[in-house]
Amino acid sequence: MAMQIAVFGTGYLGATHAACMAELGHDVIGVDVDAGKVEKLASGDVPFYEPGLDEVLRRNIKSGRLRFSTSYEEAAGCADVHFLGVGTPQKKGEFAADVSYVNRVIEDLAPLIDRPAVIFGKSTVPVGTAERLGTRVRELSPAGDAVELAWNPEFLREGYAVQDTLRPDRLVLGVDPSRNGRAETVARAVYGDLLDSGIPLIVTDLATAELVKVSANAFLATKISFINAMAEVCEAAGADVSVLADAIGHDARIGRKFLNAGIGFGGGCLPKDIRAFMARAGELGADQALTFLREVDAINMRRRTSMVEVAKSACGGSLLGARVAVLGCAFKPDSDDVRDSPALNIAGQIQLQGAAVSVFDPKAMENSRRLFPTLYYAASAKDACNGADVVLVLTEWQEFREMIPSDIESVVRQRHIVDGRNCLESDRWRDAGWSYQGVGRR
Ligand code: UDX
Repeated sequence: MAMQIAVFGTGYLGATHAACMAELGHDVIGVDVDAGKVEKLASGDVPFYEPGLDEVLRRNIKSGRLRFSTSYEEAAGCADVHFLGVGTPQKKGEFAADVSYVNRVIEDLAPLIDRPAVIFGKSTVPVGTAERLGTRVRELSPAGDAVELAWNPEFLREGYAVQDTLRPDRLVLGVDPSRNGRAETVARAVYGDLLDSGIPLIVTDLATAELVKVSANAFLATKISFINAMAEVCEAAGADVSVLADAIGHDARIGRKFLNAGIGFGGGCLPKDIRAFMARAGELGADQALTFLREVDAINMRRRTSMVEVAKSACGGSLLGARVAVLGCAFKPDSDDVRDSPALNIAGQIQLQGAAVSVFDPKAMENSRRLFPTLYYAASAKDACNGADVVLVLTEWQEFREMIPSDIESVVRQRHIVDGRNCLESDRWRDAGWSYQGVGRR
């Protein structure tokens, strides 16, 4: 049965969720305070790069099931299921999450809801936020107790956002056990198709649902930093971390996924989520439980400085006056997101040490230029390598993985290639007379 749904926030999470809910057959209104974003989405343009999302968006706008607006009144007037998908960035100068956008939606929306409704929070929030917002909603809404607040965290990965929303590994729903409400019934109706296809739904209390999200991200971050720590030991011992990862990954208890050593994790989620998690645990008096995440963060940040050192030694011990090509700026392939991108951060650090850095990324050029306007933005991978003393591959885009030495060797000054993501075939480069250096490998 088609439900009337509003989605607040039209970033990666909200825009994808809105489009995918319409794809499931619901009538959806996506709401954002940013009129520019709303206008773009309404005309069928996704304001960021996300494979497959533009088709889902356009198809559902055309069918009339999906529209966008800046008006909370309009959304509250037509929808009785509300999803909250605004951002929770890191606070400036602090580890904690800034929940002001989440608070704002509740303050603006709740007074407009005058009939029974369910609000599902999707944003990643500090544990305890949902309970606080639930109380606030009941205070502000003319419908009072008839408005319920539940938490339904999102686990989508950029680059796979549509797939992760329509075919997630699991759905998680936090409800207030002291209220015998409709939230679970409504969620089962919204996600009916997914549940019919066998996707598990875990129903729990609000705090557990909030914690599922941050602990999943903490685990993933830990897994990456674990393998990067092993890379450091492999480098010291003359061993090979890729083979090590394959070998331990065969153990089903460990698993091979998220064991790729390299320049570490970045993006709009993992780094800030582990920091917010530490800050929240501290507030709750459980800070000791998460001190290991400081180490996870430190190992991760060390990958960046270590890559700068590798580039420096490839240039003969000094970056002053050197020419460095950086292939990849996005925090991972199939994304144009450069938020806390290790690749862009390394490019910036190398430039600060006196090198001329030219960068190329298949999708993230515009976003990178906004953040680091002083790097040279090349027209192609080959152009970026022009006159380079060393070529650094820092994001594992298909285009770079498939590159062959003859694509760039006529333009570089020295045949040095550094594989920051262990994504190249080392023999291909060595056989062509290049010096190849990966991460945690001989
Ligand atoms: C992450 C979580 O995976 C997702 O479940 C959550 O909802 C949001 O945060 P995302 O930020 O899209 O998703 O990126 P992800 O694919 O997790 O990669 C994060 C970072 O880790 C990237 O910079 C990536 O390059 C790096 N990474 C990933 C590694 O360095 N090694 C790996 O083995 C895997």
